[in-house]
Amino acid sequence: MATTPAPRTRTTSAKRSANAKTEARDDDGRFTNEGTTSAPAPKRAGSASRKKPTRSDLNATTGQMLAAGAAGLAVGLAANVARKLAVQSPTYFAGEWDEALKAEHELTLKVFDAIEATTESNTTKRSMLLANLKHMLTKHALEEENAVYAAMRDAGEAEAADHLNNDHGYVKQYLYDLTMMPKDSPAWIAKVRQFRADITKHMREEETTLFPLLKGKLTPEKNKELTAAMNKEGLKIA
Ligand SMILES: [Fe+2]
Ligand SMILES: [Fe+2]
Repeated sequence: MATTPAPRTRTTSAKRSANAKTEARDDDGRFTNEGTTSAPAPKRAGSASRKKPTRSDLNATTGQMLAAGAAGLAVGLAANVARKLAVQSPTYFAGEWDEALKAEHELTLKVFDAIEATTESNTTKRSMLLANLKHMLTKHALEEENAVYAAMRDAGEAEAADHLNNDHGYVKQYLYDLTMMPKDSPAWIAKVRQFRADITKHMREEETTLFPLLKGKLTPEKNKELTAAMNKEGLKIA
């Protein structure tokens, strides 16, 4: 079936007519780009000065980005070091290694006090205090295992050091069990009380027998070195 060509729309004719009035023609009646009365298309901002970046431009930009990143990293590291020093400072200022560890024992018992003061409805508070206890005991274990117990073995107290190290394994077991158990169950606080009894026995054995034994075997210079080594280990976790 033959189709009738679509008539030109008025819009198309009017547009062409308008263009004819504004666009210049040459002697043969052809349109030229010169002499038009229409305004030139506005240049995009910066287009005149935009050029393809050279390798040296890219190197300079990369250098600036790396410098900014390094500056940010330095600020972050400085803040992290300051925070670590603040966390370790109570231990550092408590005195020699044995006094410092005793101070940490007392702080640990204060966290147990706070946990035992909670009720079964305080599950969020229990979780937060447990996290606090876990951090304190992880730092304390590193200070003892990586410095003090090692010094005990070097001083001929390997059996005692291994016994204390074995106790630390069960400290981790308590922390794991308390993390996994429902915080609102009566069994949870019963486990906390059992944990407190066991860790108190361990701490008193360190404070009253095994740490004084080690301190007496070391020279003042060696005790000083052990204090520095213990604080260095603490800073790793602080
Ligand atoms: Fe210990
Ligand atoms: Fe301890």
